[in-house]
Amino acid sequence: MNSNDLINDIINDKELIQAVLSNKRNKELDYNKINIRPIKIKNDFMYQLTYVYSNKEIHKNLLPKDTVDEIIEHINKNFKQAQMYCINNDYQILVNKKGKANVLKKKATKKTVNISHNRKKKYILEEDVPCDFLQYLGVMNEKGNVKKQKRDKFRQLNRFLEMVKDVEANFDKNKRIKIIDFGCGKSYLTFALYYYLVKIAKFNVEIVGLDIKKDVIEYCNKVAKELNYENLSFQIGNISDFDEFTEVDMVVTLHACDIATDMALFKAICWNSKVILSVPCCQHELNTQIKNDLLSPMLKHGIIKERLSSLATDSIRANLLEIIGYKTQILEFIETEHTPKNLLIRAVKYKGEIDKFLIDEYKQFKKFLNASPYLEKLLVENNIIK
Ligand SMILES: C[S@@+](CC[C@H](N)C(=O)[O-])C[C@H]1O[C@@H](n2cnc3c(N)ncnc32)[C@H](O)[C@@H]1O
Repeated sequence: MNSNDLINDIINDKELIQAVLSNKRNKELDYNKINIRPIKIKNDFMYQLTYVYSNKEIHKNLLPKDTVDEIIEHINKNFKQAQMYCINNDYQILVNKKGKANVLKKKATKKTVNISHNRKKKYILEEDVPCDFLQYLGVMNEKGNVKKQKRDKFRQLNRFLEMVKDVEANFDKNKRIKIIDFGCGKSYLTFALYYYLVKIAKFNVEIVGLDIKKDVIEYCNKVAKELNYENLSFQIGNISDFDEFTEVDMVVTLHACDIATDMALFKAICWNSKVILSVPCCQHELNTQIKNDLLSPMLKHGIIKERLSSLATDSIRANLLEIIGYKTQILEFIETEHTPKNLLIRAVKYKGEIDKFLIDEYKQFKKFLNASPYLEKLLVENNIIK
C-alpha cells in the first residue's frame, strides 16, 4: 500500500481518530513529535496538529487537504514513524534509511471520539475561575465567565503569560525581581504579569509601568491601588529619560511605536536585563532608508516595502541582541487574524561565548538594505558595540 494514498484516504474519508508522527530523522527540527486529531471548528471539519517541543506545544488547525500535505511532507523529510489510529484499522508507517515508507496494517485499537465541540483549552488564567484584575478590567464577570467581546484579549493575555512562564527560570525566587514595562498604556498585560508572577508563580516582584500619557498612568495607579497590588506602580515619563533603576531583571515593551521599542531595548541592554520581551509596532524607520536594486520587485509595492521594512527592523533588533549576548527568539504573539502586530522578540541573557560570525553577518545584512538602525546608533554612541 502506498503511504501517500493511505494518508490521503484516511484524512479525507474522516477515518482518523488520532495520529502521532515521531522518531525524528531531521535533527534540526525544533519539535520532537506531532500529534494529530480531528476537530470541528464552527461547522468546519478540520485537523488539529500539536507540535510538541521540549518545553511547549504549538497548535495549528488545518483543513483536510492541508493536513494531507503536511503529514506527507513530514514523513518525507522529518520523521521516521507515523502511527495512525483509525476507525477500522490502525496503521504504522515506517520510513527506512533510504527514505522508503512501509505500511503495516493492524487491528483498530481506539474508539471513535466525539468531535462535535472544541475541547476547552487549559489557560494559565483559567476560564470560569474568577480573577480580580480581569473582573476589574471587564474581561470576565464575577463568576469568571469571559465576556464574548473580550475573548481575544483573554487569549492574548494567556499567550503572553505562557511566554513569561517559559523564561521564569531565569529569575531568583529568593530575590525581589525588578520589572519595567515601557509604554505600558492601559496595562492589561502589566496587570496580568503581576498577577501571574505574584499570585500564581509566587515570586517577589516590583513592577513599574511607564508611559508618557498622564491620564493613562493615573488610571493604572488607581486600578493597582484598588486591587491591592502593592508592588505595582505606574509613572509618567519618557523611556529615554527613565533612570530610576540601576538594575532590572526584565524589560517588557509591548507595542511601543517605532523607535520607542529601540529606546526600551537600549535601556534593557544597559541594565544587563536578564530577560527582554518586546512586541514592536509601527516600524517606520527602515521604510525611509531601505534601498537595493535587487529588491526593487518588492520595494516598488508600498505595502510590501512596509512589511519588509518591519521584518527587517525586527531582524536587525534580534541580531543586535544576539551580538550583545542574548539568546533571541522571534515568536508569534497571537494569531495574525487578531492583529498584524504579532511578533514578539524574546531575549534571554546568555553566558556562553558569542559567535563572532554574527557581527559580519549583521554588517552585510545592514549594507544590503542600506540601513542605519537607531538601536545600533545608540549602542555605538555608548561604546557598547563598535
Ligand atoms: C500602542 S500603545 C501600547 C500599550 C500597551 N503596552 C499594550 O500593549 O496594550 C503604546 C504606548 O506607548 C507609549 N509610548 C510611546 N512612546 C513612548 C515613550 N517614548 N516613552 C514612554 N511611553 C511611550 C504611548 O503613550 C502608548 O501608551
